[in-house]
Amino acid sequence: MHKDIKKILLSADEIKKIVSELAEKINADFKGQPTVAIVLLKGSMFFAADLMRELTMPVSLDFMKLSSYGNETNSSGIVKILLDTSVELEGKNLLIIEDIVDSGRTLLKVQNMLKDRSPKCVRICTLLDKPDRREADVYVDYVGSVIPNEFVVGYGLDYAEQYRNLPYIGILDESVYSN
Ligand code: IMP
Ligand code: MG
Repeated sequence: MHKDIKKILLSADEIKKIVSELAEKINADFKGQPTVAIVLLKGSMFFAADLMRELTMPVSLDFMKLSSYGNETNSSGIVKILLDTSVELEGKNLLIIEDIVDSGRTLLKVQNMLKDRSPKCVRICTLLDKPDRREADVYVDYVGSVIPNEFVVGYGLDYAEQYRNLPYIGILDESVYSN
């Protein structure tokens, strides 16, 4: 285990199982209809890469990048769009792929932006959910795992751009960000 990790929350094997269960639900709901997966960079790329390989409908891939965190462990509250989608979304089924829902502000902003582009439907899938921290009223269709109010890293999730490559998800030791 990495020295900055206080506790492993989800092992690589546990993550794999969660991803497969999510894919199974999504495959059943989407019933083979063509879909555009919209991956929210950068944190969701590991999750999206694993999830997409288990999806059975025709699925294309696009990215959005938003920022609200900076180097802190608390959201600044202002969500900026750093990169937008590049394909036509009108009339399409959209599946937003997110790593973690915290305040919910990021997803609310993305969801509203995408709805303005007249898609057929917009569904949201997140690997992790921290409901204790929710401020924005956003409905998430698929949740992999509900986690306690702790700052977690690994499997794409970062603190100051570090730890994304850990194969598990762990709670970051407070000593890393408290001074
Ligand atoms: P929200 O807008 O507050 O819901 O923030 C969502 C974004 O904040 C996620 O996409 C992550 O990039 C980041 N985030 C929230 N909680 C954590 C965490 O525990 N570890 C790492 N990143 C997090
Ligand atoms: Mg992040």
